[in-house]
Amino acid sequence: MSRRFWDWHAIISYNYKTKVLPYQERIEDIIKTLEIKGNHFILDAGCGTGYLIKIIKEKHPSAQIEAVDFSREMLNRAAKRCMGLKNINFREVDLDAHLPHKPNSFNAIACDNVLYAIPRPDFTLKEFFRVLKPKGRLIVVIPKPEIDSRAIIFHHFRGLKSPWQKIKAFFVMLITFLLIIPFEKSIDRKIKQGIYHALTGDEILTILDKIGFSEGKIGLTFADQNWIIYARKP
Ligand SMILES: C[S@@+](CC[C@H](N)C(=O)[O-])C[C@H]1O[C@@H](n2cnc3c(N)ncnc32)[C@H](O)[C@@H]1O
Repeated sequence: MSRRFWDWHAIISYNYKTKVLPYQERIEDIIKTLEIKGNHFILDAGCGTGYLIKIIKEKHPSAQIEAVDFSREMLNRAAKRCMGLKNINFREVDLDAHLPHKPNSFNAIACDNVLYAIPRPDFTLKEFFRVLKPKGRLIVVIPKPEIDSRAIIFHHFRGLKSPWQKIKAFFVMLITFLLIIPFEKSIDRKIKQGIYHALTGDEILTILDKIGFSEGKIGLTFADQNWIIYARKP
């Protein structure tokens, strides 16, 4: 239903987000918890414009990555961002359908800020369980229901040292918020209409537990405005 919504998101606003410090820290937090080793095979489920993939490849050059998304515009931008990097396969996949992967394929799966937009999150999480290898890690990041944008802005500015960095950051934040706020508002509306879901970290943990995941834990990231949930396939 919302493929076009995400295509527009990719075209208009998406690249600015990667310049925001709390977003960069979220990517670092995800990579730390993925426990990547050697040529591990990683699924980025809902890869967006590919920032996570690029940073994974910088830190773990031998990792193999399957980057899936249902928005062609997102995939095009992700492919452009990762141009020249090896062992990345971009694929158009709807996460609301059975994944086109064999059981026990991946060492780890990252699903960053995607699950709320999937019609049947429990079905998708079951698919993740199927395609993960035993002992494989799943990382899910979801927004808290009422995101405090001020916390994100303050966190970003606190990380900057020189006045010049602060002036530059002011304009980056201004453009980012002007471009992103209409999309964020539209996501809020979809949640209120029941099209998207406002699942809590605890609710995700309960679903993961029922599916059979073990070692479930919750933390905070993105200036404490997102939950990061990690679990393992036994
Ligand atoms: C908020 S963005 C997150 C992108 C990226 N993971 C990040 O955090 O930067 C949500 C992504 O989920 C993708 N998406 C939404 N519903 C999807 C579906 N049913 N199947 C595949 N991808 C989907 C969108 O196209 C978009 O790229």
